[in-house]
Amino acid sequence: MTSMTERHKTLEKNVTLLGIAALGAVVIGGVVEIAPLFWIDNTIEKVEGMRPYTPLEQAGRDIYVREGCYVCHSQMIRPFRDEVERYGHYSLAAESMYDHPFQWGSKRTGPDLARVGKRYSDDWHVQHLKNPQSVVPESVMPQYGFLADNDLDVPDIAANLTALRRVGVPYTDRDVKMALADLKAQADPEADAGDLEERYPKAQVRDFDGNPSRLTEMDALVAYLQMLGTLVDVDGAAAQEELASERGR
Ligand code: HEC
Repeated sequence: MTSMTERHKTLEKNVTLLGIAALGAVVIGGVVEIAPLFWIDNTIEKVEGMRPYTPLEQAGRDIYVREGCYVCHSQMIRPFRDEVERYGHYSLAAESMYDHPFQWGSKRTGPDLARVGKRYSDDWHVQHLKNPQSVVPESVMPQYGFLADNDLDVPDIAANLTALRRVGVPYTDRDVKMALADLKAQADPEADAGDLEERYPKAQVRDFDGNPSRLTEMDALVAYLQMLGTLVDVDGAAAQEELASERGR
């Protein structure tokens, strides 16, 4: 009787047979990993507090993408002690569920920005974006002063929200209808922001760029940065998560 090793030898010596067997092993592994994704509705655990971005935050996000900030900055804190001690609670999947495209990034020339919101004042951000070296002399970050000179020009913010809605961001009809009014009101301390803060909990309403008479790209970008990582009460959410896994879901 041929032993197991003998039979394995036959397999190893026959390239075609080995190829077929290897393919078989890979296919089984692939199916086991991929197939369940077709039957579950959502791979992202819901966490309280996560909401679609306000029109102003979204406009700021589009500027962030346009300017390639992601080339130097990540927005994902990994669950390792050094990261958590430096940047705060590790990122939860739900925190980037409304990101199209996501901004996890793959390179950190500068620090991670996932929780930069409210860490600095608006003034600091404006000064830093205009001239990073004036705040951090050894910084290699480029200067973005022109953002304060550019009027925020979003030809059709309602259309942007509609497009995002099509890919699953739950903007309501009212959000879409109010999009332009919301965009302007969030950066204008004089404006009546209406029900903006009810529809977008924790929305920060104020002039962001230090120039209340104009709505600039700087307003939008700073509004976006100041929101990052502030929506979800991460320590609460993490406690919930632990509880859920203890109960075995
Ligand atoms: C060439 C790489 C590079 C690019 C591009 C870049 N940054 Fe930076 N950024 C850095 C570096 C390096 C630092 C750390 C030194 C400093 O604070 O300037 C930094 C720091 C920051 C900080 C402070 C973070 C903290 O926790 O202290 C913010 C906020 C920031 N950048 C935002 C942006 C935004 C917004 C853009 C796009 C408009 C951008 N950066 C583009 C390299 C870059």
